Amino acid sequence: MHKTTQPPLTDGRAGARSRELFAAAQAVIPGGVNSPVRAFSSVGGHPPFIKAARGPYIYTEDGAELIDYVGSWGPALLGHAHPEVVEAVVQVARDGLSFGACTAAEVEFAERLCAIVPALRGGQVRLVSSGTEATMSALRLARGYTGRPKIIKAEGGYHGHADMLLVAAGSGAATLGIPGSAGVTEAAVGDTLTVPYNDLAAVRACFEANPGAIAAIIIEPVAGNMGCVPPRPGYLEGLREICTAEGAVLIFDEVMTGFRVALGGAQERFGVTPDLTCLGKIIGGGLPVGAYGGRREIMAKIAPLGPVYQAGTLSGNPLGVAAGLATLTILEREPPYAALEEATRHLVEGLGALAARHGIPLASTRVGAMFCGFFRGGEVWDYADAKGSDTARFGRFHGEMLARGVYLAPSQFEAAFLSIAHDPSILARTLEAADGAFAALGEG
Ligand SMILES: Cc1ncc(COP(=O)(O)O)c(C=O)c1O
Repeated sequence: MHKTTQPPLTDGRAGARSRELFAAAQAVIPGGVNSPVRAFSSVGGHPPFIKAARGPYIYTEDGAELIDYVGSWGPALLGHAHPEVVEAVVQVARDGLSFGACTAAEVEFAERLCAIVPALRGGQVRLVSSGTEATMSALRLARGYTGRPKIIKAEGGYHGHADMLLVAAGSGAATLGIPGSAGVTEAAVGDTLTVPYNDLAAVRACFEANPGAIAAIIIEPVAGNMGCVPPRPGYLEGLREICTAEGAVLIFDEVMTGFRVALGGAQERFGVTPDLTCLGKIIGGGLPVGAYGGRREIMAKIAPLGPVYQAGTLSGNPLGVAAGLATLTILEREPPYAALEEATRHLVEGLGALAARHGIPLASTRVGAMFCGFFRGGEVWDYADAKGSDTARFGRFHGEMLARGVYLAPSQFEAAFLSIAHDPSILARTLEAADGAFAALGEG
């Protein structure tokens, strides 16, 4: 008997099942989402619910197969459910899910990290369970090490949701228009200074106005939470010089860029070594792992060696460590960075050409396997530029792409991510979808 197989649905907009689940979710989960970035409030419509993910695809509860550029917000550099990573986790799981005690694998993992990430070489690293914990702990450490109270962050930079960092915050806070947060006291943010990204003069002015009081600069070496905004030539070098001259700790938040823009992160790519580095996302291969580390004399201030307290029940969790080790093994064995760079270039240039053909202003940015298309003309170098985008138009584009089988983050202020599973046919299908989406925008 002749058997016909149905091609998978490509319209990823929430169907009946996702809508039913979202209604149920809203009853028991605030806003129906466990992280505000998952809400569709800025693009309209409802979030499709996800059932599975494999390679470059995610599969919705409504039966759609979508090309995924969210990648779980960064971790999925190897594509979803990479067999080697899954197998490593399954094997380790059989021997116990958590011990809250020392393991051989966490030592191997720390050794590998200290070999790969420039700022960790000759230094030390502490494992935690999220990017938020990594940045929060690194800043406490910088304050404990220097004995100074103030910190500098960039407007539109996002470093997790610790109180002191919810000032002019990017990502979901920017999307929802709540770059500060209720519940954060003035005291908690009173020592947080903000500067425009890519503006060294503003950083110098902060140091002049606060002599001997600034403990650290925390910066995304490629900003990824106001869309993707690369550092201007000389910016990271300038931050390095200022921190060295002022005795302040330079912290690179590489939660997003680590293992993505180069194996050793943005610090390897741009040749600027910070004092401390925060890691997350790819480091856990899809499981909740973060880390912070750097110069030995700074790390020596952490308990039990020193007076800066930081702890974690699940820190160094065997499953997370297994997934992380498997991920690093693959990345070192088969470095994907040249191919990822080329794939991203091809896609971003293709999107730019299509937008131009349809008469739609689009300012594109890319670094390694992360990119963004801002719906505006000109260039984007900081948060003010990013905010000059036509977010309503982005929202329409998002919906048109979703209807054509491409899953983008539901916000203009997020970076998009490629994985090694985004092969030429996936890129071609993405560009075909974008052609249709841009055409629909022109008509609308
Ligand atoms: C640069 C950066 N730092 C920190 C964080 C916080 O990480 P997590 O969500 O794992 O707490 C994020 C999350 O998106 C991030 O992009």
